[in-house]
Amino acid sequence: MKELVVSKIKDGTVIDHINAGRAPLVLKILGIDVGTDLTVSMAMNVSSSKMGKKDIVKVEGMYISEEKLSKIALISPNATINLIRNYEIERKFKVNPPEVVEEVLKCPNPMCVSNAEREPVRSIFYVKIEENEVSARCHYCGRKIKDLANYIS
Ligand SMILES: Nc1ncnc2c1ncn2[C@@H]1O[C@H](COP(=O)(O)OP(=O)(O)OP(=O)(O)O)[C@@H](O)[C@H]1O
Ligand SMILES: [Mg+2]
Ligand SMILES: [Zn+2]
Repeated sequence: MKELVVSKIKDGTVIDHINAGRAPLVLKILGIDVGTDLTVSMAMNVSSSKMGKKDIVKVEGMYISEEKLSKIALISPNATINLIRNYEIERKFKVNPPEVVEEVLKCPNPMCVSNAEREPVRSIFYVKIEENEVSARCHYCGRKIKDLANYIS
């Protein structure tokens, strides 16, 4: 029998197949933080036949834009988005990372202008996928980063 880890929602967005342990980063990317008014449920490290373990995030009453959702692919390339309407899945799709991502990643180079204390500029990274691995390059200093989950700002 199929059991539901978190309860059903009437309308909203379900983000499924998130890499295990990364649901808090997904919330961060979506801008859902301390003090949010949204009804959000999250499950971490639940068993999955496809992935072994996975995380799930469910946001009630909100359809998150595809542009915003695409950023989730930076840290969870297998994530599936389910748009729920009246308890049913209206649309299901996979996320693809954006080619350019602004203000999501923090450059690890302390000398980079994006980290300047006095006049910091918004971070910009160019995203690349090679052999299923996502990497990104800083617009300002050219620093290349992998394992992007470590650089979510
Ligand atoms: N009304 C709902 N409220 C909350 N979550 C829902 C609702 N309907 C479906 N879900 C969740 O959406 C996800 C996808 O549901 P679906 O029934 O398509 O499962 P599935 O067949 O396992 O799909 P997949 O192949 O994408 O894993 C599951 O995590 C499911 O629990
Ligand atoms: Mg499933
Ligand atoms: Zn940089």
